[in-house]
Amino acid sequence: MKKSKPAAKRLVKSSASIAPAGKPPALSNGHSKADAMEAAADLKAMAQALGVNPSQGMQLASPIATMLRRPRRNRRTATLRGLVRETELSPAHFILPLFIQEGKNLRTPIRSMPGVERLSRDQIVKEARRALSLGIGSVALFPVIADNLKDAIASISTSDDGLLQKTIRDLKNAIPEITVITDVAMDPYSSDGHDGLVYGGRILNDESLPILAAMALAQARAGADMVAPSDMMDGRVSYLRRALDNEGFTEVGILAYTAKYASSFYGPFREALNSAPKHGDKKTYQMDPANRREALVEADLDVKEGADMLMVKPALAYLDVIAALKAAVNVPIAAYHVSGEYAMIKAAGQLGWLDAGAAMHESLLSIRRAGADAILTYAAMEMAEKLNA
Ligand code: PBG
Repeated sequence: MKKSKPAAKRLVKSSASIAPAGKPPALSNGHSKADAMEAAADLKAMAQALGVNPSQGMQLASPIATMLRRPRRNRRTATLRGLVRETELSPAHFILPLFIQEGKNLRTPIRSMPGVERLSRDQIVKEARRALSLGIGSVALFPVIADNLKDAIASISTSDDGLLQKTIRDLKNAIPEITVITDVAMDPYSSDGHDGLVYGGRILNDESLPILAAMALAQARAGADMVAPSDMMDGRVSYLRRALDNEGFTEVGILAYTAKYASSFYGPFREALNSAPKHGDKKTYQMDPANRREALVEADLDVKEGADMLMVKPALAYLDVIAALKAAVNVPIAAYHVSGEYAMIKAAGQLGWLDAGAAMHESLLSIRRAGADAILTYAAMEMAEKLNA
């Protein structure tokens, strides 16, 4: 016995210390009998130091125990934990967001999103190939549009030879099996930086719909598998559904940004695309972070209007909304683990304040646990590599 050390310190060292005081524990864990005896003595010393009666511990651990249920039994070994794990994270559930820029052979890092780059079209194809080889079958595309190509009606978003439309064609020609998801909103193409049409300082709803529909049609013509309206205008899902069907695109799906909140977590994304609103904020169309029941109204509408999947965005600060939608509707639910959520973990990791890889895994797992079927995440590649290892 090493009397010199305080009892508590010696206890930490001995993993056999769960045994009742005064009685050596079972030695199934590779500890020597001497270790066990020491632990038992340590425990007694500890109990005395704390002023508790060790015989009470004896009672709890007796054969007619008061604890018939011990949840720790199912956590005892890695294989047991694997057997009872309720939620799986797998690359097939990831959607990889990609930022596209003009040029050739370009990969430009994004300052506020460590590990994420703006890619030229040739690099997008490369990246998507790599994603598919890791088991990630879906990408979501976001083009960086030059300021001189932006205008009040987002014209370039509806043409057939915009940067996004060309990239969709590249991708579907090179890798037909990959699912290409495209964002429908005016902000990356608009000189106002808003998701809808701005007039007299207001974001017009109904007048925005034909522009959004023309955008979705340009994306569908280029080969998009799903269009994802992120604009939050009322009635846009049914408007897009009818526009697509009228043009024969009955197989192009709609992933609706159903519950998209007016969030501060989009900051790094707006930096990446240079798409921040030129004036005002997005609070007259994106949802108030205080509201959950309102998300159910949006979900109800989107399902009725023909959405194939619903999305909640951001994800981590809105896990309750993910769970609520999962319970309320019967279409698949996606969640967008957005730029700011990614950046926070990366930044803390760079400062050495936490293990970024483990924190990322835990975050994505929690999004799945809350009820998301699919997750859009900038960590898709690194996480897939980890999961496949
Ligand atoms: C465009 C759009 C945004 C995001 C996805 N689509 C920005 C916004 O609404 O301001 C944010 C994604 C992210 O932060 O990762 N409407």
